[in-house]
Amino acid sequence: MAYTSIHNTPAWRALLDHAEALKRVSLNELFAEDPQRGSRFRATCDPVYFDYAKDHITDRTLTLLLDLANTANLSAAIEALFCGQPVNTTEHRPALHTALRSRPLGDSEAERSTAASLHKITTFAEKVRQREETGATGKPFCSIVNLGIGGSDLGPRLVVTAFPQLHHQAIHSHFVANIDSDALSAALAECTADATLFVISSKSFSTIETLANADRARRWLLEAGIAEDSLGRHFVAATANGEAAQQWGVPAQRVFAVEEWVGGRFSLWSAVGLPIALALGNDVFRQLLDGARSMDDHFRSADFADNLPVLHGLQAIWHINFRGHEKTDHKNNNGYRSRAVIPYVHQLRLLPSYLQQLMMESLGKSTVREGLETATATGQVIWGDEGTNGQHSFHQFLLQGTEVVPVDFIATRTPHCQADAHRQLIANCLAQSSALMTGKTVGEAYAELIAQGFTQTEADQLAAHKSVPGNRPSNTIVLDDFSPRSLGALLAFYEHSVYVQSVIWNINAFDQWGVELGKQISDHLFTALGESETPAPILDRLDSSTRNLLDHFCNDSGAQKKS
Ligand code: F6P
Repeated sequence: MAYTSIHNTPAWRALLDHAEALKRVSLNELFAEDPQRGSRFRATCDPVYFDYAKDHITDRTLTLLLDLANTANLSAAIEALFCGQPVNTTEHRPALHTALRSRPLGDSEAERSTAASLHKITTFAEKVRQREETGATGKPFCSIVNLGIGGSDLGPRLVVTAFPQLHHQAIHSHFVANIDSDALSAALAECTADATLFVISSKSFSTIETLANADRARRWLLEAGIAEDSLGRHFVAATANGEAAQQWGVPAQRVFAVEEWVGGRFSLWSAVGLPIALALGNDVFRQLLDGARSMDDHFRSADFADNLPVLHGLQAIWHINFRGHEKTDHKNNNGYRSRAVIPYVHQLRLLPSYLQQLMMESLGKSTVREGLETATATGQVIWGDEGTNGQHSFHQFLLQGTEVVPVDFIATRTPHCQADAHRQLIANCLAQSSALMTGKTVGEAYAELIAQGFTQTEADQLAAHKSVPGNRPSNTIVLDDFSPRSLGALLAFYEHSVYVQSVIWNINAFDQWGVELGKQISDHLFTALGESETPAPILDRLDSSTRNLLDHFCNDSGAQKKS
């Protein structure tokens, strides 16, 4: 079938023309023109309130973005996702993370396996929490150490960190991802071997970091005197490769299946979420799933004009492909190439790194589904930190730097912390989005300086430095409360926004082939670092910079002495 790139469609061209016309219209002007703007450019899906009024979006922009969505057959693509069609085209698989939270579970194969898997996870978690499941010496578990990386780490780590007040009093959770042995050592320093349970979380059960840490954990247990034939009581695995897990030494009944149709970065709803159930309990895990499901239902059924993930996803397209766009170059435009995510909730401090994987691994693609190079820019750099911390570091860049970085501010409506602290958080959060948008003119800065007693010469010199350009877009995403349900909804909101973007760009959001190359090269280099002479076939493949660096690590004073 002939393939038409989205940038060659009338809908895209209409957006380009519209973007050109809107180029010089500021946010302050949009608000002045339409006093109701603040109440019109917002949408809700309980418990999430999404305000996108502080963006260069008009009714016309919305109409055109919705036309673009229709041109890309977004409705059909959403159905394809939920119905289990093989939307992961390069791996010929569905991406059925939504099935993991659908209720009531029907009798499709995915739903049956989900029900069985959830039952197994919750039963095991309950036994550990009730102190019935014990280690080799009969001691109940006091420490859970999750060994996993990427999607097998970031999701459960985020959720467990988010709700310290709900933690089981006697069970401490640790998350170890890095192959750097110091990461595991730091966690183990706080654990006692006979009361420690390791969750080896790896969909593939072939990830080098996770397997290295699992091997180290096994040695640590042995050195602490745990008998070899009882080691299995200290390990469980969450994986799609049960055979490899068993070969490694995890007893079959302690392997929790992750289905092939769950992508790593979408997997916290699966057995990969076991540490959540262990630390926070099954009710919390279910509430998280419920929250995600409410966003799923909304995504699947709400009109696009009121649909939070659709609006957020289309807004990203608007930012990346149309703002600052030079008409002739769709790929190397000046669109907003990064997005900051700033939760004004300390307990959501890990959200930016979670979203980094979700959004950058999903959308960091240059090839459309048909195998051709993309004609448009795709994806954004995602970064951020908790508010208010960022205000004292990178907000200066957001406010006065030369690059426009749209921000997702995230806050809770009812206090998640002490009331006075929450009030401060909200005041700061709203102040930042307002400052980014409103800015301060040189004239205003000058007048302020004069009012403060500066001379005219001093005010002249300083005014430009103190002015803030403004006109910088941001969203404010407010959770009704800070609960597992709200967090589930928020994470599903971002998952679906990612999908929307991938559909418009016609890229596969569910593979990550790029990361393979680095793995292949590091395998060669790992071998080279351990040999007295680097084998010629390896050397021949290396560029001179990497060869020199290899020498540098291997020469007499380098740490990697060759045997
Ligand atoms: O290398 C990238 C990646 O495959 C991620 O997509 C994934 O979440 C992570 O590695 C861990 O993979 P696994 O769960 O198979 O160990």
